[in-house]
Amino acid sequence: MTGQQTSPQTTELIIGIAELTSQADDGERLRGAALVIERGRIVWLGPAATAPAADIRTDVAGRAVLPGWVDTHTHLIFAGDRAAEFEARMAGQRYAAGGINTTVAATRAATEEQLVAGAARLRREAEAQGTTFLETKTGYGLDLASEVRSARAAASVADVVTFLGAHLVPAGMDRRDYLDLVTGPMLAAVAPHADYIDAFCEVGAFDVEESREVLLAGRAAGLGVRVHGNQLGFSGGVRLAVELGAASVDHCNHLEERDIEALAGSATVATLLPACDLSTREPFPPARRLVDAGARIALATNCNPGTSYTTSMPFCVATAVLQMGLTIEEAVWAATRGAAAAVGREHGPDAVGSLRVGGWADLQVLDAPSVAHLAYRPGVPLTAAVWRRGVRSRRGGGLDA
Ligand code: NIG
Repeated sequence: MTGQQTSPQTTELIIGIAELTSQADDGERLRGAALVIERGRIVWLGPAATAPAADIRTDVAGRAVLPGWVDTHTHLIFAGDRAAEFEARMAGQRYAAGGINTTVAATRAATEEQLVAGAARLRREAEAQGTTFLETKTGYGLDLASEVRSARAAASVADVVTFLGAHLVPAGMDRRDYLDLVTGPMLAAVAPHADYIDAFCEVGAFDVEESREVLLAGRAAGLGVRVHGNQLGFSGGVRLAVELGAASVDHCNHLEERDIEALAGSATVATLLPACDLSTREPFPPARRLVDAGARIALATNCNPGTSYTTSMPFCVATAVLQMGLTIEEAVWAATRGAAAAVGREHGPDAVGSLRVGGWADLQVLDAPSVAHLAYRPGVPLTAAVWRRGVRSRRGGGLDA
């Protein structure tokens, strides 16, 4: 085993793969495969016996290889934590969106450098657990200057940035005035740094009409649409997301049959956030029913200081299997290829979440012979090595026998 650090210019052959989950066409797991990386991309993938020579040969010694995780729902731009709120919740208090204001105050008081440093630390933590592509949101600034600062910070650490000015009406502000700010000057100032617009469509945050107004304004400004919906009740967020052709509707804990049908008949991905459900003690979303109905699902961490303070995609995958009724292959698909669909990166030269010739070499090696171990050995750190854009990071447990 070499385990050398590669430069993007050298070719690197990865052999010794016990099981390769490519997600190129389906969730099939290939045995005896190898792949070659050059200039950040996979340039060859096939049976190890016919692999070409390369500058570097990395033997992963009987471990499983799969795409890096694609985490499409995080809120990494914040300061402070809410451990006290979490403790109170574990003692029986119900989660209410109002706790967001605590983080807003801390975030406004932080410098941009502090916000970037905090988010970068969380991104490194995620990468050590196999995440190679990550979305993050604004939404803890909630005034013009703080949202712009948050968007700049987000763009410096994440692959995809979402504007979430419509997270909550900030304390002390008139509702109508705030909506005018979000859909007017704030949107204009943040849009150059963002890819998507989002709205927290929930009791205690924004209703369907308000969310529609915000999302349509974002769309007119050239942003893609995503929605926080049906987390704490039947908010109408799911059907709004489908109506607007959103890339994703996230949470989806409380779904009626017609919500499931609407998702199944649409291209909108239902992004499920199991770590958040555990931390808020909300019922898990009906993942099995969604998949059986033909809806597309993704899994994400929802890393944030209020409802889900984890960067661990392996934890989410294990929980989805052990608690939500998904098979191993469905959960791994939802955290890679399904997640790529939730950020419009399933196809094309910048596709993520799959391993194919011509695609980015964003991949991880598990310290296990098969992806089944992700749920079979829950809570065990199984990330042995991670490549992002063809460069192996020092993070992960390593490939020594
Ligand atoms: O996705 N739902 C809205 N936003 C976050 C919660 C943020 C917070 O409580 O700080 C979420 O769970």
